[in-house]
Amino acid sequence: MLLENFLKGLAYIFPAYVANATPVVAVRILGRSHPLDGRISLPDGKRLLGEGKTIEGLLAGIGVGTVTGLVMQALLPFIFRSSLEVFTLSAGALVGDISGAFIKRRLGLPPGHPAPPLDQLGFLVAGLLLTHASHGLPPWLDLTTIILLIAFTFGMHVGTNLFAYAVGLKDRWY
Ligand code: CTP
Ligand code: MG
Repeated sequence: MLLENFLKGLAYIFPAYVANATPVVAVRILGRSHPLDGRISLPDGKRLLGEGKTIEGLLAGIGVGTVTGLVMQALLPFIFRSSLEVFTLSAGALVGDISGAFIKRRLGLPPGHPAPPLDQLGFLVAGLLLTHASHGLPPWLDLTTIILLIAFTFGMHVGTNLFAYAVGLKDRWY
């Protein structure tokens, strides 16, 4: 039951994963991007969001995450309850990512600077919160499963970064 819920939960949050991972690839493919904050700085002298959050990244993330969820919904109709739900999971992920950047700038951290667990979990927590606020979370997605999913996501993030560093894809381990 626990394993079943965990696996179902992984499928459930997959659109949020995709939404979160898409911007970096999309911006690289597009080759140009426009900062979401219009290069505005706040009275603290720091950018509102910074160069790492772009309009292209936002739209691509929500779009690709939602389309992924819609395809999954067709294949696995028992996971999602509505098409809007895959949208809130994806859009919430981007809201979390952008909120994280806002917080990092207020703390004086430059784009790309690590801020655990904000970087690893902000997108997931925000995706679930927005879905909870708009649809309520599915009854099978209980607190234990959510905690497992959060722990798994954190571990995955650290693990994949370590791997990318080990094989030379990244020049920092975090
Ligand atoms: N990205 C984007 N738009 C977004 C999110 C991400 O264009 N809404 C792209 C940017 O090129 C960004 C990269 O994906 O540099 C990596 O994303 P992320 O790690 O979230 O951003 P950081 O560069 O670490 O910036 P920050 O510290 O503000 O999160
Ligand atoms: Mg980052």
